[in-house]
Amino acid sequence: MRLTKEQIAESLIKLIDSGQIKPEDDSLIGYDLSFLEKRIMGIQNAFPKNTLHAIAIKANPLTSILEILKRLGVGAEAASFPELNQALNCNYEPETIVYDSPAKTVEDIKNALHYGVHINADSFAELTRIDEILKTTKTNSTIGLRVNPQVGVGAIESSSTAGEYSKFGVPLTEFYEKIQEAYLAYPWLTGIHVHIGSQGCPLELFKNAYARITEFINTTNRLLKKSGRTINIIDIGGGLPVAYRNEDSPPTIEEFSQVVNHAFEKLEIDDYRLITEFGRYVFANCGWVASRVEYVKHQPGVKTALIHVGADMFVRRVYRPQDWHHDLFVVDKDGRLKTGIDDTPYVIAGPLCFSGDILANHIKLPCIEEGDFVVIRDAGAYTLSMWSRYNSRCMPKVVGYYDNADKVIILKERETAGRLNEFWS
Ligand SMILES: Cc1ncc(COP(=O)(O)O)c(C=O)c1O
Repeated sequence: MRLTKEQIAESLIKLIDSGQIKPEDDSLIGYDLSFLEKRIMGIQNAFPKNTLHAIAIKANPLTSILEILKRLGVGAEAASFPELNQALNCNYEPETIVYDSPAKTVEDIKNALHYGVHINADSFAELTRIDEILKTTKTNSTIGLRVNPQVGVGAIESSSTAGEYSKFGVPLTEFYEKIQEAYLAYPWLTGIHVHIGSQGCPLELFKNAYARITEFINTTNRLLKKSGRTINIIDIGGGLPVAYRNEDSPPTIEEFSQVVNHAFEKLEIDDYRLITEFGRYVFANCGWVASRVEYVKHQPGVKTALIHVGADMFVRRVYRPQDWHHDLFVVDKDGRLKTGIDDTPYVIAGPLCFSGDILANHIKLPCIEEGDFVVIRDAGAYTLSMWSRYNSRCMPKVVGYYDNADKVIILKERETAGRLNEFWS
């Protein structure tokens, strides 16, 4: 399910009317927080009550959003130590924070163990480091190992992580026994982590991955029996795809959870802690960007609308247009949907100093005039978080709203030139 353009336009009209877009705001980023809440509730309802839903901070690291999520009762997945710190600063309980990174330093590991967060090690070498540190350190942390189930790649290779080769995790086929030996050797190793990719992975791939993990857990737990220990923390990662086009029909959260349940029914343990790490599914469809059209340039056979966001916010879309897409529509200066189709196709170009900074190429749109807004849909995940400093443009203001913008909160003020100077100093 996506926000319709009518829903977005209705909210935008109210936001413009109530003065949320000042003349100096060349763009505005909006989050429908009612929609976000529904997504979170949907996830919570689809899985057993005691599941830890550690939402991937990298998909949307706005502090105000992290605070909202905390109030909704979910945890956080950190892909770096600064992300972990951010979650702690937002008062997430350490046991609700999951720390994943393939490049943790000794210092990072020591600090994570000190705080007592759940750590997913990414390699045998990291397990060795953790073991060394634990000889002299007490911790409340639980620890897992990321394995690559090697079930194949999805539609987008660069965001798939379960091919024969992946830079993440330990490949299960080649190292099956060596991984089991690690569980036997390290009494503190009680978790397993698998994340197969982000966007583009069909349900079948998840199904195969979770079946492989189930088989591995069962055989390993049989070996562990004498020691009285089990693998009892299962982190299934994120990766539930979302719709970026009307014709996309990604699986629902219920269909996804059925796949998980079906695989884990075969687990030979009664009690385990399930962790999920959704990111895109939580944020993508509830966010949008409205960017003012500064100029419309005319050339034979094409018009170019120049707007104020481009590759700085839509890194993936601009550099890998074959993999990533965002629908666009046009509203007038008051937020009213423009209708009809111009005879001439449009290029929607960003403001940055390279000719490839293009968000849409030769598309049919209503007639665009200076002062209109181009609205970019499904822009809530892996967009702002990938913000690039090229050309030093100020990050736009971000607002959140409930009930079609009857209630509005500022999630982040527009970046000032002073803050930007600080960044480069
Ligand atoms: C380890 C890990 N967990 C969770 C996620 C979140 O994935 P998604 O946003 O597709 O749900 C990612 C993203 O790539 C990831 O690398």
